[in-house]
Amino acid sequence: MTVTTPLIGAPIDRIEGAEKVRGAALYAAEHPVDRPVYVFPLQSRIALGRITGIDATEAMAEQGVVDVLTHENAPRLASTQDAELAILQSPEVAFRGQFIGGVLAESAEAARRAANLVRLSYEPREHDVSFHAARADLVKPDEVNGGFQTDTTDGDVDDALASAAVLLDATYTTPQEHNNPLEPHATIAIWSDNELTLYDSTQGVHWVRDSIAALFGMDPQRIHVVCPHTGGGFGSKGLPHAHVVLAAMAAQLVAPRPAKLVLTRQQMFSVVGYRTGTIQRIRMGSDASGRLTAISHDVVEQTSRIKEFAEQTAVPTRLMSPTRRTTHRLVELDVPVPSWMRAPGEAPGMFGLEVAMDEMAIACGLDPVEFRIRNEPETDPETGRPFSSRNLVACLREGAQRFGWAERDPAPRAHRDGPWLVGTGVAASTYPVFSMPGSRATIQARPDGRYRVLIGAADIGTGAWTSLTQIAADALGVEMSEVVLSIGDTDLPYASGAGGSTGILCWGSAIVDAARRLRAELPSSSPIPDEGVEVTGAIPDNPYAGQMSMHSFGAQFAEVRVHTSTGEVRVPRLLGIFAVGRMINAKTGRSQLIGGMTMGLSMALHEHSVVDHRFGHVVNHDFAGYHIPVNADIGSIEADWIDEHDPYVNPMGAKGIGELGIVGTAAAIANAGHHATGIRVRDLPITLDRFLT
Ligand code: MOS
Repeated sequence: MTVTTPLIGAPIDRIEGAEKVRGAALYAAEHPVDRPVYVFPLQSRIALGRITGIDATEAMAEQGVVDVLTHENAPRLASTQDAELAILQSPEVAFRGQFIGGVLAESAEAARRAANLVRLSYEPREHDVSFHAARADLVKPDEVNGGFQTDTTDGDVDDALASAAVLLDATYTTPQEHNNPLEPHATIAIWSDNELTLYDSTQGVHWVRDSIAALFGMDPQRIHVVCPHTGGGFGSKGLPHAHVVLAAMAAQLVAPRPAKLVLTRQQMFSVVGYRTGTIQRIRMGSDASGRLTAISHDVVEQTSRIKEFAEQTAVPTRLMSPTRRTTHRLVELDVPVPSWMRAPGEAPGMFGLEVAMDEMAIACGLDPVEFRIRNEPETDPETGRPFSSRNLVACLREGAQRFGWAERDPAPRAHRDGPWLVGTGVAASTYPVFSMPGSRATIQARPDGRYRVLIGAADIGTGAWTSLTQIAADALGVEMSEVVLSIGDTDLPYASGAGGSTGILCWGSAIVDAARRLRAELPSSSPIPDEGVEVTGAIPDNPYAGQMSMHSFGAQFAEVRVHTSTGEVRVPRLLGIFAVGRMINAKTGRSQLIGGMTMGLSMALHEHSVVDHRFGHVVNHDFAGYHIPVNADIGSIEADWIDEHDPYVNPMGAKGIGELGIVGTAAAIANAGHHATGIRVRDLPITLDRFLT
């Protein structure tokens, strides 16, 4: 059948939407299993030291308690290389909140109650959780997240800064922040006949399988991971964390009964990763006409002493100036292991860089939109490669026009509305077009006229169920109703995870490849034979990879109101215009961008994990203390995109959109806050006290 209306780009409703609204879509903990044993983790109450005694007598005496799992009776792991995952292998404690055991019981309530009755004694050692830049023991990582070089230098930065007509030297900081997806992390583990089944809330079933296989020394084929729906992850479900290991260990003890573990919100503040705080010193020089001559971006961030994670904070700065230096240094502390949180690197790094850009524009006497346009590089300054497409200027122009930028008086404190000072600000967004290796897709043409599309992809709430069905239908030249998609299961062809905004790009490329192979064997005009046709496709080699610099871009505009007597900060208006290649689904895609911008507003005004140095944990480890925006905090958020054609990135011409929306939002809000009040806030979150002078 020939389809005439273009499927790609259409605002198609989520195909699993009704199932979700009815509560029929199964999330990890909801999969029906027979007589599960419930697991409640035991967490260390010291930040460093060792466990010297465990008395589980009282806990074991509680009704319904099945077992207490500790390092004394836990299964030995085949690999202890990953110190975050190799739990219960020794009495050593590396951070407060680390999993040191678990109580197994017939009900979740009994497990939780009994967990409080396990008496633990410790021999503590003096811990160090003090994150600051003046430390003498900063460490240079071998590389930073994403496989980027730790430090890069091009040109004589010091010379260029020394001779700059306009010079900025300022320090920007972002706090530790925690991923808080709506669905808490949850795992059901079942051992039977030396095979392990995991119903796990994850961003990638195959990534979980491979990681758990290495840990338990198993053939990956003997592990089956199932996850049709995930209630958000923001990176914290990108790779398995300690709870998956604890659930699997518990299941080993009670086999063949299933073990079920659902983290509490508070536990998520210790064991599923978080964004490091950053301290960013930025020096920027320009000539008298406002052309940047040099940038230096030096970042200090924290990692855990037991496992390194180095956020790539200064990497986006490498896209900026012909003469530049970027460095990353780590403070190794007795803290939980940091990891991915939506746009690791870009989100904090573009806060520092884009506030600095605003300050430079003002110092040069230029409009911040004009200043950015004036400093657009022709080619990627770091690699010298041409951009596959770079439409930041188009986004800035379109956004400025739609936001009413021309009516803006550039002077701070120029706009007032009763007791409110009103300001507007702008910042750029950018995110790399990454690719992950390995995804494959199988398409089966069935004699009933339907096309089954099989790939172990993940839908973490993004709309992947829908957009992958669109991509398949479009590539096959059939209606969406003729396509039956299966995802979220390791029995399906290998798929990389939903990470680095690569999901649709990688899975979609494999599906398009499979569809092309199928159509080569079975043209649309031919009837489907009785035995059906099955083909498997993979991500085709991209001849432009390594030849071109591939990134998405965007421009974000914010209106901020600051109350003159209370300092209260409101954001009535956000507008983001993005350049993301071809949009696959206008509805779910817009939701991704708006969601990112909402999280950016959250980063700007609310999120801040506060460490208690005496004990080494995050004290505001719940939604009473850790603020994220509610509806009342959000005014108008609009996201749109320009018509961008990029034939180089992948067969769909699409760029990732999951992370781009959070990048730049906080800077736009900080810049608008300065325009409103004349007060420059360089540290997140922007709380009302910053405006009380
Ligand atoms: Mo994303 S933070 O790469 O899951």
